[in-house]
Amino acid sequence: MKKIIILLGPPGAGKGTVGEKLSKLLNFPLISTGDLLRENVKEKTELGIKAKEYMEKGELVPDNIVFSVLFERIKNDDCKYGFILDGFPRNINQAENLNKLLEDGKTKVIYLKADDDFLIRRLSNRRICEKCGAIYHLINLPPKVEGICDKCGGKLIQRDDDKEEVVRNRLKVYHNLTSPLLNYYGNKGILFQVDATKKLEEIVSEIIKIEKNNG
Ligand code: AP5
Repeated sequence: MKKIIILLGPPGAGKGTVGEKLSKLLNFPLISTGDLLRENVKEKTELGIKAKEYMEKGELVPDNIVFSVLFERIKNDDCKYGFILDGFPRNINQAENLNKLLEDGKTKVIYLKADDDFLIRRLSNRRICEKCGAIYHLINLPPKVEGICDKCGGKLIQRDDDKEEVVRNRLKVYHNLTSPLLNYYGNKGILFQVDATKKLEEIVSEIIKIEKNNG
């Protein structure tokens, strides 16, 4: 049976950072709809051009665009035993469509919890590699050489949507459209809450325990 881990949480909660570690430890691919969309924006594909106008305002990209990038990706062979989702689903319609697709899968949802003020502060110090997308934090998880990616030598930049006014809108969108998923998955008995303000190693080991101990 396929295993699916959904990382659910507000912007900056650490879905990408935690997901990367889990992916290595559990040997499942990490699939981030944000990264898939950013690749399309960078390549100026038809979908990317449409997605860009929503992403730069911090709005959700229309479901049909997100479905086409995601469903194409999870058809790949590396997803046949399971995968980790970062940033999907983000509304009830996306969750319902995912259910249909994964009828034979075993899903666990990890809710990375943190409050808005903490997240706004955290995101102001995030930097990403413009080449490979690796995630850094100027204070907590800095690169070895300032401004340069440890993994590929690419240049570190600030994401366009990490400007404070856009972050505030992303948080608003999260509270309106994504947070109802907490009840949705809570009612199904598959939601597990983790404190996203803890040290990365603690968060990861908590999730590994949840993964091993809860069927
Ligand atoms: P997306 O890329 O998914 O952004 P997000 O959900 O807003 O999440 P972030 O990537 O900002 O944060 P994160 O939780 O991954 O945190 P990170 O690990 O980087 O989406 C971007 C846009 O794409 C959306 O606004 C929307 O337009 C569109 N989109 C994407 N998916 C969509 C969908 N399904 N439907 C519709 N539209 C969609 O960590 C943050 C910082 O904290 C980093 O600097 C990191 O180094 C640091 N950090 C993380 N964890 C720790 C820790 N434990 N200790 C210390 N520092 C830490």
